[in-house]
Parts: sequence; C-alpha cells; structure tokens
Amino acid sequence: MRSDRGRQGGGRGPKNAGAGLKYNSRPQSMNGFEEGIEFLPANNAKKVEKRGPRRWVVLLALLVGCLLLALATGLLVWWHLQNPEVQEYKVFNGYLRITNENFLDAYEDPNSTEFANLAQKVKEALKVHYSRIPALGPYHKASEVTAFSEGSVIAYYWSEFSIPQKQVREAELAMAEERVFVLPPRGRNLYSFELTSVVAFPTDPRTIATRQDNSCSFALHAQGREPQRFTTPGFPDSPYPARARCQWALRGDAESVLSLTFRSFDVAPCDGSGSHPDLVAVYDALSPMEPRAVVQLCGTFSPTYNLTFLSSQNVLLVTLVITTERRHPGFEATFFQLPKMHSCGGSLRGPQGTFSSPYYPAHYPPNTDCTWDIEVPADRVKVLFTFFFLLEPGVALGSCTKDYVEVNGEKFCGEKPQFVVASQSNKLTVRFHSDQSYTDTGFLAEYLSFDSSDPCPGKFMCNTGRCVESRLRCDGWTDCSDFSDELGCKCNETYQFTCANKLCKPLFWMCDTVNDCGDNSDELACACPAENLKCNNGKCVPKTRQCDGKDDCGDRSDEANCKRVNVVTCTKDTYRCNNGLCVSKANPECDGKKDCNDGSDEKNCDCGIRPFTKQSRVVGGKNADEGEWPWQVSLHAQDQGHVCGASLISPDWMVSAAHCYTDESGFSYSDPKKWTAFLGLHDQSKRNAAGVQKLGLKRIIRHPSFNDYTFDYDIALLELEKSAEYSSTVRPICLPDTTHSFPTGKAIWVTGWGHTKEGGSPAVILQKGEIRVINQTTCEKLLPQQITPRMMCVGYLSGGVDSCQGDSGGPLSSVEAEGRIFQAGVVSWGDGCAQKDKPGVYTRLPVFREWIKEETGV
Ligand code: ARG
Repeated sequence: MRSDRGRQGGGRGPKNAGAGLKYNSRPQSMNGFEEGIEFLPANNAKKVEKRGPRRWVVLLALLVGCLLLALATGLLVWWHLQNPEVQEYKVFNGYLRITNENFLDAYEDPNSTEFANLAQKVKEALKVHYSRIPALGPYHKASEVTAFSEGSVIAYYWSEFSIPQKQVREAELAMAEERVFVLPPRGRNLYSFELTSVVAFPTDPRTIATRQDNSCSFALHAQGREPQRFTTPGFPDSPYPARARCQWALRGDAESVLSLTFRSFDVAPCDGSGSHPDLVAVYDALSPMEPRAVVQLCGTFSPTYNLTFLSSQNVLLVTLVITTERRHPGFEATFFQLPKMHSCGGSLRGPQGTFSSPYYPAHYPPNTDCTWDIEVPADRVKVLFTFFFLLEPGVALGSCTKDYVEVNGEKFCGEKPQFVVASQSNKLTVRFHSDQSYTDTGFLAEYLSFDSSDPCPGKFMCNTGRCVESRLRCDGWTDCSDFSDELGCKCNETYQFTCANKLCKPLFWMCDTVNDCGDNSDELACACPAENLKCNNGKCVPKTRQCDGKDDCGDRSDEANCKRVNVVTCTKDTYRCNNGLCVSKANPECDGKKDCNDGSDEKNCDCGIRPFTKQSRVVGGKNADEGEWPWQVSLHAQDQGHVCGASLISPDWMVSAAHCYTDESGFSYSDPKKWTAFLGLHDQSKRNAAGVQKLGLKRIIRHPSFNDYTFDYDIALLELEKSAEYSSTVRPICLPDTTHSFPTGKAIWVTGWGHTKEGGSPAVILQKGEIRVINQTTCEKLLPQQITPRMMCVGYLSGGVDSCQGDSGGPLSSVEAEGRIFQAGVVSWGDGCAQKDKPGVYTRLPVFREWIKEETGV
C-alpha cells in the first residue's frame, strides 16, 4: 500500500460551506402579522360590560371564599410542620492540603494508628470548617478521610450532607470554592493545623466510595520503574462482576509521577445518551472528583489504541462502576513511576528542530504549563504542527477555555489536521496549557528557520506558510489546507476542467456526482432538469419515479433509501429472497432491517463486524489498528515469506486473487502444500504472537476463466486445512449479493502488507488506505482495452493512495449500513503504484457471488 496524502482521504476539493441559506423576499413573520391578527375597534369596550348579580349573593360568595382560604393556609402550615422541607442526600468528594505536617509512610496504610489520628484531626477540622459556612453547617452529617498522599500532606475525604432541595445549588457552590483556614485560630493554642486548597465536588451517587465494598478496592504502590500490572477481577478468563464498584488507588514515591496504560480494554459498550452503563474513570487524585477526571472510558478498544495517561502528582485513582450484568472481560493495565518533570518547555535554538507536548504520544498530564521560546538564525521562524489532539469534553468548538496551545498570542485547541504558524520575526513563543481535567495525546511540532525572501526553497508556499512540493501546484488536489496551491492556476484545457471558482480539476472528475470544485460547477453541466432525480450512475429520472418499486435508474439508486420495500418482478438486478420473491431495495443484505417476508436477507449475517468499537484516530494510508481488519489474511509461500493477501469468508474458506496461485518456472504456486495462511496477524515480525492462527491450505480453486494475460476473472478460493477459530482478531467479512452495488465515489478501504512505495519494500505492520470507486467509463478511458466487466477501478486519479505489490489477493472493505463491512473487491493489478491517472484495478466481488456459493457452500 502506498500513500503520500494520508489525511486527505475525506474529499478532493474544498467543500461548499453554507449552502443551506436561501433568500426569501417576503419575510414570513410579516405575513403572519398582516393576515393573522385582527384589532378590535377601540369603542367596542362598552359592549362587554354587564349588569352585576344581586348584592347579598356577592357577600356570601366572598365569605365562603375567605373561609376556604383560611382552611387551605391552615392545612399548609400543618403539613409543613409534619414534613420539614424535602431534603436531598448529597455526597461531596474532596481534598485538602495540610501544610504544616510531614508525610509519614504509615499514612499510606488506612489501618495504621498514624492514619487514624490524622484522619480524626481532619474530620474535626472539617466539622469546624463547615460550621462556619451558613450554606453548609446546618446540613453536615458526617465526613470520612479515605487516603493521604504527599504534598505536604494531602487528605482525600468525602462529606455527607442532607440539604433542603432549594439550598443544594448554594451548597455546591460553597463546596467548590477553594478555601484556606487555620485551626484553631492562631494565638489561642500552641499547635495549629494549617489547611489550604480545601475543595470538594458533588459525586454521582453511584460512584460514592462511602459504602465501598472492600473486596473490590485495591491500593498499589509503584515499584521503581518496573511496570506493575492490575486487572479487573477475573480477567481475562471470566467477566467482571455484575453491578459492582471497584477502585484502584495507585501511588508512586514523593516527587514522582505515574504513567498508566490500559493494555487491553473491553467493558460494556458506551451509551449514546451519556449515562454509560459500565464506566472506567481515571482521576488525577485519590478521590473520584469529576473536575479532576483525566479520562472516562467505555466500550472496547483495539490493543494498538493509545491508552497511556500521565498524572500531575504521584497518585492516580482508577474506578470501575458497573451497573449492568453484561459479560465483558474488563481491562488489564500497567503503571510505573517516573521522576517528576521540573520544567516543561525550554529555549530552542538553531535552524530547525522538533518539540512536543509532555510525554507525547501518551496523554499529557493535567495541570501542566510549558513554554518554548524559539529563536532561529534566519529572519523568520515557523512552526508546523504535524499532529494536534487537544480535545476536551464540554469545550465549545474554537473556544479553547480549557487545554490549549498558544502561539503568537493565538490559541489553538481541539483536533486539527496539519497546520503552520509563522512569525514576523526570528522569534516565536509557544505555550502549552492543560487544565485540571481531561487530557488528550497532545501535539508534535517542528520549527523551521526561513528567509522571508525565499520561504520555501524549491517548493511552493501555501498561504498558511506550509511548503508543499511544487509538482502539487495546480494538480486539482488540495494540498494546502486553505487550497492556496490550487488558486490562480491556468487550467490545461486538454485534461483539466475550469471550475466556476477558477479551480482546475481533472476532466474525468466532471459529472461523477462528486462536488470536486466545491461550488458544484463540475456537476452542473450534467445536472438533471428540474423535478428530476440524479441517479448514482448519472442518469436523470423524474422524481415521481423514486421509490415506485421499479428500477428506473438502472442501478436501483432510485429505489435505495425508500421507507417502503416493495416486492417487485425479479430481474437480474433485484435482490431475490429465499422464498423466490424479489424486493426493490438496493443492498438489503444484513442491513439490520427485515426486507424479505421470510427474513432471508438478514440470515447468515455473522460477518463484517469489527471486534473493537474504538480505533485510533489517524486516518488515511497508515498503520492499521490491531483487530481493525480481522478478515485480512497473509499468505506465505514456502521460503518466500509474505506473497499475497486473502480474506476470510467462513471458518474454512478464504477469497484471494487467482494470479497469486499461478505456477512459475521453478515454483509451483498452485500447490496448496506450498502455502501457509496467517490469520489474526498484525505485524509480520510477530507471527508467533498470541492470537495469530497459522494454518495450511487444503485446496486452491482458481477461477476456471482466469486469464493470466489479461487478469480477467482474477479470483481464487482457498480452503483451509483446519477450520479457523473466530476470535477478537479473526472474523469473516460479508460477501455482497450479486445485485449489491458499490456506487461511484464511495470511499472504500484497501489493506495489506504490500510495498509502501513503487519498487520499495513490503510493510511490516498491516497498512490501510482509503480510496474511492471510480466510474467504469472513466476506468476504461484511463486504462484503454484493459478493463473487463469483472474489473473495477478504485483509487484517486491524482495518485497518492493505492495498493501495490504484495497487496494482491487482499480485500477491499466497504463500510455499509450499521457499520457492517462487505468485501467490494480483490486487489488485482495496476500500472505502477499510486501514479497519477493510474488507479488500482480490483476484481469485482458481486459478479462471483454464485460461483463462491457453488464452490464453497458459503
Ligand atoms: N499485482 C500486485 C500484487 O501481486 C498488486 C498490484 C496492485 N497495484 C496497484 N497499483 N493497485 O500484489
């Protein structure tokens, strides 16, 4: 697999923003005002007056009214006396610092007398403290100290209150205010207890440590730099307990910080509503206080997902709250201590260099500030942020109220693609700030000295300051994030189209239903007349024919996404249910909806599902995550190592490319005994890793019509000697029905261990790249006389991302309804790799659905 433009898979051109606004000359509200309200003529008032009833009746009514009122008031008073105001039970978790005490080792042990003595003092101090605050004093019930840590001594506690409902808000505010106090007041006693940073936060009743079941509470102290392991109870052989609360208090020595990594993580899936059934939280303290949470986790993560977190002090608290009875293995984690960083940032000199947020790519610690002051020899400096992840929940887009990077006084935060910030002098200051909660992986940056007279030697400079290869200028592809490399171009009329906004785009991109220009001008010349629908294949059909049960487009795109599924006359393009009836809907298989009366479209759907709900965020041509493509198989030929890819479609069968199994002088590639299949493989250098299944082949069925000259019918079926065992990294992909369509422009993933450069070397880690389906006519024009109906072009016409030598036989994975993945094709051939106007060619899978069924029964 080869790719130069990793993060750009999302689109080829600038997107049209703000297209939703339409001008309306008749303001709606005005119309309503004119038509909807009538004013009464002013002199009508008299007509409403009526003569009153007799006087005594009025008096009587008044008397009865007064009596009723008195009764009601009485009742109310009585009720109030009986039931004092509704009280709310509240627990606050907090900490305070005792500045005039030294930390003793015994404070780590809650059963020591030293612990008990100091805890008693803290409890008394809290009682006095609350008694002085009117919003809290009367409602305080009890407090408990749960732990101590260094600094001088930090005490972690919870306090219970029973507060009248109306006063809860006020009490919460009073608790959250950080305070300092001395007990008893200086002068009255010889010994005084000095407390600072006294603060506490309301706690979700479910997470309260108060009635903690000790069976699931652990205290661990780091041993040197040696990682220590801990897991959820029963991991990995049995699920974690149902409806339990667990916590792990992690400590390091004074003057150290902790690094915590979840190596394996699988708890119940997150809930979209935000009240997650089972939740793991990590706190930068020993009390579970939301404003000190570093992260909250649920769902399942790929083992390659970066789950390393750092503390700002020598403690961390990990909690697991389980409200379900689902059966999940839980997590395995390790932690170790490392010396506390005394300064962060520094001065950077010289013409270039790199710097990053602390501990990059681990999640940076909370409560950290770093400053880099950069000074370079030339007259200007710029900083290129290659990775930038400072995303924090609860921060409004672009507001940077919590964690941020500040350059030249401008704040940056959130998740950003590569960007450059330049200065008007040879100096630049970069600040990094993380607040007390939620952290992310941070940033990686490069600074560069440059000459204002020649900012990009030999290259093109984007308006953002970034330098890109000159050949990328005016190539129709956006390389500068502000598309400045595509502005002011003179389009080459022989192969480029001039958009209305003056951008140049390859002619082949016209009328392919993708808005490449950004202003849609490349799709206008081929727009359908009014009241018509544009089919995926470009055809126009009257809107009235949409969802009428007939395939008017010819590719059934007018029958996709209809509310009602119609039973229609069967044609070669309609999906046929097991009962012989055909339905109008396109791609109805395994989409989570029963479209056939007999439900056959939702049968045999144990396929195309990834084991992990969370994959890493970096997209494009990059290392795959473990378990991201569990159907991907590596085929090794005797003494040759990895030769081709394949995909798992059942426990016994795989799909691959026929050309991989064609004999050559000196080697019999058609002999199944010469091959070994590696399933669940991620890293070619770790073929013995746990989870990898190494299996021999029993049979190789090359398609009988395979032509080794034209590569027509380039498909093969491989039968495994022993059945594969499905696991978290070994699973089958879904096979598309004969009628399944993969429309032009659809983004599809290609994966493999093939060469990462034309003429380069094979990849060690499985690679993934996102490419797009190219329409068949364009494909035929680009590769004249070479494309048959069994082939499909997928890639980018501008080059950049493609499969390459060694990817052959591997699958094209297409994400469809409900996230289920279908195999769209098999890597077959290409003219070079990732070259301009030379997309990769793939064997279409739907064409072979029946043949696969006949040969394998799958
Ligand atoms: N035939 C190659 C192989 O055996 C696959 C080449 C794919 N080439 C491409 N440019 N997409 O691995």
